[in-house]
Amino acid sequence: MNEEYINQKDTTMKPGVINLAEKLSLFSEQWSPKIIAQMNEHHFKLVKLSGEFVWHAHEHTDEVFIVLEGELTIDFRDGAAVLGPGEMIVIPKGVEHRPRADEECRVMLVEYAGTVNTGDVESDFSAPSDEWI
Ligand code: NI
Repeated sequence: MNEEYINQKDTTMKPGVINLAEKLSLFSEQWSPKIIAQMNEHHFKLVKLSGEFVWHAHEHTDEVFIVLEGELTIDFRDGAAVLGPGEMIVIPKGVEHRPRADEECRVMLVEYAGTVNTGDVESDFSAPSDEWI
């Protein structure tokens, strides 16, 4: 457990409501996940995706994609999954995957704090894993 996170908790205040549409309006970059919340050791992140990402896997964490807007395809070595708004998928750790979208889609990710978007692959797509909005 992250000590810094424990110390940030103020149990005297009621938790704030996080509005996803409002958070999505705060950035326009694609493939650059922004943290909006933390639960235990996991981060909730918003990301805008368009085009084709790199093949990668996450050695230490499962990864959750929850599609908020648009259509997201995730390629696996043995096929693809297509998700629309209101649909989600859990990608087990170690499984190679490649997200792609013909048009911009908006997605919420849930994964261990500190998870790098490109996993085991160093790429131009690699983005900071600690950017809060
Ligand atoms: Ni991934």
